[in-house]
Amino acid sequence: MSQVPADLPSISTASLIQSVRSAMQKHPSQRGLRLVLTGFMGCGKSTLGRKLAQTLGLPFLDTDKQIEKETHQRIPDIFSLYGEEHFREVERQVLELCLNQPQVVIATGGGALVDQANLDLALKAGWVIYIDMPPEQLLERVLFSPKDRPLIDVPNPEDVFFQRFEERLPFYQQAHISVDTAGLRPEQAVDVLLRGLLAYFENQETVEVN
Ligand code: S3P
Repeated sequence: MSQVPADLPSISTASLIQSVRSAMQKHPSQRGLRLVLTGFMGCGKSTLGRKLAQTLGLPFLDTDKQIEKETHQRIPDIFSLYGEEHFREVERQVLELCLNQPQVVIATGGGALVDQANLDLALKAGWVIYIDMPPEQLLERVLFSPKDRPLIDVPNPEDVFFQRFEERLPFYQQAHISVDTAGLRPEQAVDVLLRGLLAYFENQETVEVN
């Protein structure tokens, strides 16, 4: 995984978008215009994904929203009625459906790629981007709305939170690129993300393509 450097070259937004689209389309891997956002709950995958899709002129899908649409149930209800294992099975099927889209930005639920088979599928089908943020900042954000997030709707949310965070890092760190969005507004984060992608593709020209 390559970290996005802080001192990326300046380039206008229009030519940045054009360059990123063209680099993705030309890449021999066939991942094409398929982008997959991953990262811990609260890092802003959905907000960022929607903005990124808009910026690149691509459709946007959110695995959590797709799960709710397919099952006609809210995520907390799926957890409380059928348990996490069942949720993960539905999530896997929905992820596969989303990855079948030829051109798309996908925001995945925080646990969707914390399974090597799902992660491998996403890494093969699209460009996986880890939205990095310090855990303390993430915790602050998710504790605003614990009822929407069954995993932390428990008596000791901090313990569960930090334990899951540690367990998940090795998966998130397999992403193609990692973008540190701490302290950035969504539009700034999209800009950093696009510049990071461009730098990634420019470096790829000199390294083995996988
Ligand atoms: C989960 C994160 C949630 C949702 C579900 C499980 C997780 O999505 O998929 O509550 O395992 O981290 P967000 O990452 O969008 O909060």
